[in-house]
Amino acid sequence: MFDRKHNCVVVVGAQWGDEGKGKLVDVLAEKTDLVVRYQGGANAGHTVVVGDRHFVLHQIPSGILHQEVRCIVGNGVVLDPETFFAELDQLGAQGIDISGRLLVSERAHLVLPYHQLLDQVSERTQQIGTTGRGIGPAYEDKIGRRGIRVADLCRADRARGLLTQGVARANALLEMLGAAERANLEEHLALGERLGARLAPITTDTGLVVHTALREGKRVLLEGAQGAMLDVDHGTYPFVTSSTTTASGAAVGAGIGPTEIDGVLGVVKAYTTRVGNGPLPTLAGGALEERLRQLGGEFGTTTGRPRRCGWFDAPVVRYSVRVNGLTGLAVTKLDVLDTFETIPVATGYRIEGGGTSEMPGDVELLERAVPIYEELKGWQRDITGARTLADLPPEARAYLDRLQDLAGAPIRYVSVGTRRDQIIET
Ligand code: GDP
Ligand code: IMO
Ligand code: MG
Repeated sequence: MFDRKHNCVVVVGAQWGDEGKGKLVDVLAEKTDLVVRYQGGANAGHTVVVGDRHFVLHQIPSGILHQEVRCIVGNGVVLDPETFFAELDQLGAQGIDISGRLLVSERAHLVLPYHQLLDQVSERTQQIGTTGRGIGPAYEDKIGRRGIRVADLCRADRARGLLTQGVARANALLEMLGAAERANLEEHLALGERLGARLAPITTDTGLVVHTALREGKRVLLEGAQGAMLDVDHGTYPFVTSSTTTASGAAVGAGIGPTEIDGVLGVVKAYTTRVGNGPLPTLAGGALEERLRQLGGEFGTTTGRPRRCGWFDAPVVRYSVRVNGLTGLAVTKLDVLDTFETIPVATGYRIEGGGTSEMPGDVELLERAVPIYEELKGWQRDITGARTLADLPPEARAYLDRLQDLAGAPIRYVSVGTRRDQIIET
């Protein structure tokens, strides 16, 4: 993805999240100077496997495991300071030296315990199936112009006043919602004092850091969280997250202009999964679904919930190519399909009697969509040792060719296992 003309690349999820963005970012980070998370928060769970060690990153960019790479939590992220520092300390305990390599935007909004409480209480009626990490309420406060930002927490006096107002408002909302729980002001003030002091030294105008790096010809990778179908505008609303997960959000959330971005890599599983509520047209169901789940280890990285599993959905990925402006695809977890005799791929939907290959904007129509499947031949061989396209069985190559044709974007990477070296560059 990187060359002399491509210094700034976005990596996004092109389905419903958990496509393997963490692995791709880790692989690409080897050729990168700076990795920036630009939206979402601790709802994300990005797995990186290095040798026999597993790392799960929720808020810290997946480039952090490369000692030479600098990382940024951008202004578009909603930062939960408590779990952020827990994650940082955990990495330190695992021997990852982070000193001087991680910066946080002074403009990033905070996720506080009262946001988590509101998220959990809202779920009792809304039932989006959120991760319960306070993401929706924190973005509501941001857009409602009553959020608390990192810069505020770093100034003790201002933080006290804002936290007092925030807790009071949250408690009024909780009362209105008929919930018994209340946010505790002392807890919030103590958190503000403890973590504001810890945040201050690593806080800066990170947009300027990214801009300067690009001016100096450095390579910058913008790491998306979630996936296109969870985008607040383009996803299966209301069963979405509360941020712009598509590539257009990368410039805003990293603090640069859209003209800086040179390429967009969409990460797609060779099949489809979804965690949380909302439609999943290609759901496999029954024993086949369970087989995909077990073979793919399809359990939520953040919540441990079983992910619903189904077949590759071409309308989803084609739509994702369109709304993200994808310049390339990375197909992951192809090895999970190693043992299947035939593999269904959805080329379109039948909705209320009519055929379509486009994504309906009305979620109820998508609930009623019946996929039109094409059966592709499986390869029934272990491909985890493949390192070039030529190493793949002809059926696996035919499968990839078909996915590429249906999606309408070139496949640039194929991942055949969890480890760093299990990657094919096409
Ligand atoms: P992310 O949120 O997009 O970073 O993805 P997650 O980390 O939540 O989920 C992807 C899971 O698939 C992780 O457990 C990865 O270790 C694993 N994974 C990534 N690529 C591959 C692959 O090519 N093959 C297999 N078998 N597992 C993979
Ligand atoms: P990564 O970055 C998969 C889903 C939740 C729920 C919806 C809204 O690891 O791909 P939220 O807590 O964001 O308000 O929940 O979005 N969701 C994810 N699903 N991967 C994620 O992140 C997700 N982040 C949120 O399950 O359906
Ligand atoms: Mg994940």
